[in-house]
Amino acid sequence: MTRVAIIGAGPCGMSLLQAFRTAEKNGDAIPEVVCYEKQSDWGGLWNYTWRTGTDQYGEPVHGSMYRYLWSNGPKECLEFADYSFEEHFGKPIPSFPPREVLTDYIKGRVEASGARKFCQFQRAAHWVRYWNESDNFTVATRDLESNTMSAETFDYVVVSTGHFSVPNVPHFEGFNTTSARVLHAHDFRDAREFEGMDLLIIGTSYSAEDIGSQCYKYGAKSVTISHRTAPTGFHWPEAFKEVPLLTRIDGKTAHFKDGSSKDVDAIILCTGYLHHFPFMAEELKLRATNRMWTPSLYQGVVFENNPKVMYLGMQDQYYTFNMFDVQAWYVRDVIMGRIQLPSKEEMEADSANWLEREAGLENYEHEIWFQGDYVQTLLDQSDYPKFDVQGINNAFMDWEHHKHDDIMGYRDHGHRSLMTGNEQPVHHTKWFEAMDDSMESYLSDKAA
Ligand SMILES: Cc1cc2nc3c(=O)[nH]c(=O)nc-3n(C[C@H](O)[C@H](O)[C@H](O)COP(=O)(O)OP(=O)(O)OC[C@H]3O[C@@H](n4cnc5c(N)ncnc54)[C@H](O)[C@@H]3O)c2cc1C
Ligand SMILES: NC(=O)c1ccc[n+]([C@@H]2O[C@H](COP(=O)([O-])OP(=O)(O)OC[C@H]3O[C@@H](n4cnc5c(N)ncnc54)[C@H](OP(=O)(O)O)[C@@H]3O)[C@@H](O)[C@H]2O)c1
Repeated sequence: MTRVAIIGAGPCGMSLLQAFRTAEKNGDAIPEVVCYEKQSDWGGLWNYTWRTGTDQYGEPVHGSMYRYLWSNGPKECLEFADYSFEEHFGKPIPSFPPREVLTDYIKGRVEASGARKFCQFQRAAHWVRYWNESDNFTVATRDLESNTMSAETFDYVVVSTGHFSVPNVPHFEGFNTTSARVLHAHDFRDAREFEGMDLLIIGTSYSAEDIGSQCYKYGAKSVTISHRTAPTGFHWPEAFKEVPLLTRIDGKTAHFKDGSSKDVDAIILCTGYLHHFPFMAEELKLRATNRMWTPSLYQGVVFENNPKVMYLGMQDQYYTFNMFDVQAWYVRDVIMGRIQLPSKEEMEADSANWLEREAGLENYEHEIWFQGDYVQTLLDQSDYPKFDVQGINNAFMDWEHHKHDDIMGYRDHGHRSLMTGNEQPVHHTKWFEAMDDSMESYLSDKAA
């Protein structure tokens, strides 16, 4: 029997588990599926942990999630087509849920479908090797509780370990001697730590805007955002300032490229993450950065150098959970022989077309349409329930416009579900004033 190893049970791994389970429930003969997950539960990044650095078993802590995180995009853009929010929560709910609510939703689908039986938790993949002669793989894993290694043989390996967990940490002059606290977003946990402080953020992308906003919401005195390429351009409250890149820090005085300076108490490096797969043999390792099209992945998922290796969710992400689903359904169908892969040359030629298109993308609107086209391309190739990709693109456009109108207020809008067609309510409390991020508070119709 064909054996499939899935490494990582975050949202991408869970999508693939759901894809196989759906086929199984339809009466199809599925391969033997084993999913190795180093945490004690599925959910990936969405499982909040207070830990930073290494965990109790000496494994790198995967989590980059922080307390009080609310979705930064409308949930209507990430909704599963086979399991709506309304099905899970029993009613329409507001569009920008806090972490606990989204986690409950993504776990709810796979709990209901019975996909847990495929998973082995607290088991970390440490070594994956391909054997030419037998055309299969050895996957060596460590059972974390017993601290024992074991190895199994598989015909396919799917890597779904995410790419927002290994921080990209640049060095700036003065970091070794400054008395300001210096940390990367990966280790940021609780905004209240920065109450009353002057904060410097390096970077301008999602972590920068969200961690800066959140620290301000929870009482930071000022937020200075330092850019390498361009400022965010949002209409920030008065306590914010955008400056060019940090050049050095003397004591607590940060100096910037334009000659300006600012005394700061803490520096948060919101400088992104590295694609890092230390457990994969060199020739199987994806070498990538966070961009809209990932070179060497046919259809964004099949590793061209060895098409029995697949990588899920490696792109920069506007689309998330439903994109992971269409990728998972596609990968499942390749493994089950329902989709035939073309020759290596044809795969490379197809990828070259996407790369050429990627090179012409000039702004976020282009990027959203590009990713929508990619999602549609995969959606057309499997039996994943069809959904309105153009409608989701339009919801993303509205969301971006709301952000540019009011960066502190964009979460105070309701969007329409593209899966059920129903308008979703506006949350009872404005995001900036909502200090209670519990599921109970979010799902109730009024503030406690
Ligand atoms: C701070 C932050 C906030 C975000 N907020 C949003 C948001 O609001 N909305 C949204 O749609 N997306 C958000 N994202 C994007 C996020 O990438 C996706 O939502 C999603 O978590 C990606 O799923 P994944 O399965 O690819 O990776 P992950 O969620 O990272 O899951 C990977 C899994 O692999 C496991 N793993 C890693 N290495 C091994 C190993 N060697 N052996 C076994 N298991 C292993 C990990 O333990 C983990 O469970 C956010 C990302 C970050 C960093
Ligand atoms: N609330 C939420 O839902 C939430 C919150 C946080 C993060 N997220 C998610 O987390 C993921 C990662 O986002 P991210 O912002 O961490 O990473 P990212 O999107 O990859 O952005 C990295 C940023 O770091 C900057 N940078 C990189 N190297 C640098 C250097 N040497 N010096 C200065 N700047 C440097 C980049 O600047 P350049 O532009 O110059 O390259 C860019 O602004 C996204 O999917 C996002 O949606 C979500």
